[in-house]
Amino acid sequence: MSQALPRVAIVTGGSRGIGRAIIDRLLSAGHSVVNLDRVAGETGNGAEERLTFRAVDLSQPEEVAAAALAVLADFGPITVLVNNAGISPVSEGRGLPVESLPLAEWRNVFAVNLDAAFLLSQALIPSMRQASWGRIVNMSSQSARTVSSVTGAHYGASKMGMISLTRSLAAELGPYGITSNCIAPGWTDTSLGTSFTGIEPYLARTPLRRLGRPEDIAAAVAFLVSDEAAYITGATLDVNGGSFMG
Ligand SMILES: NC(=O)c1ccc[n+]([C@@H]2O[C@H](COP(=O)([O-])OP(=O)(O)OC[C@H]3O[C@@H](n4cnc5c(N)ncnc54)[C@H](O)[C@@H]3O)[C@@H](O)[C@H]2O)c1
Repeated sequence: MSQALPRVAIVTGGSRGIGRAIIDRLLSAGHSVVNLDRVAGETGNGAEERLTFRAVDLSQPEEVAAAALAVLADFGPITVLVNNAGISPVSEGRGLPVESLPLAEWRNVFAVNLDAAFLLSQALIPSMRQASWGRIVNMSSQSARTVSSVTGAHYGASKMGMISLTRSLAAELGPYGITSNCIAPGWTDTSLGTSFTGIEPYLARTPLRRLGRPEDIAAAVAFLVSDEAAYITGATLDVNGGSFMG
């Protein structure tokens, strides 16, 4: 069964970078979008009347739960969820080694990168089940597909967790027409991406010889959200210029 457009989508971390590009693609595809971010972003592609911003600190579980309830009250059932927001703390161009990584930083990375995705999925499953249709897309990372020389252990572990959460959601929700998939971007040209050192050697071993663009990642999200991707679930899609071939 297919749900007619317009579908309402929640995108986290949509105020800049990859999230902003995802929002532009979803707006172009006819969706209404709610952006859950700490800060409001710059304006996008002209379809702004279908874009709503709601301020939320995704590291705070109570704020995430309250935001989900408020969005459901305002918009009714939400059947598209893109858990895009993520952080990767940097010290002198790279993540801290395990030996000196504070537990508070470890926990904060997990709260934003994984817990928020779990809480929002939990909050929206009833909407999707009711519609017998739903799409969950989770943002993992190449750091979870192989080891990263620049991101910290907390980042990679949380992004590995996203892959596992994605698979559990796929297994649990498939019978209700709901798909759940992951994207694993390689190094992408955003504020986060360019906060790391080591881009040159990465480019030298990347067959397509450039960083990813937010639009490259957004195109993959738009596909997974579309009806064309109805038979893809539990998958992790690498979008990385060939820099890692798993
Ligand atoms: N850029 C890369 O190289 C790269 C590579 C692989 C995966 N990713 C993943 O892609 C996703 C998007 O990354 P990006 O490069 O666009 O990052 P970015 O830093 O440019 O944007 C992240 C967005 O998330 C928001 N955000 C961060 N913490 C938040 C919080 N506590 N509460 C609410 N909003 C918060 C920020 O305000 C920002 O708008 C992340 O999950 C990231 O881990 C990025």
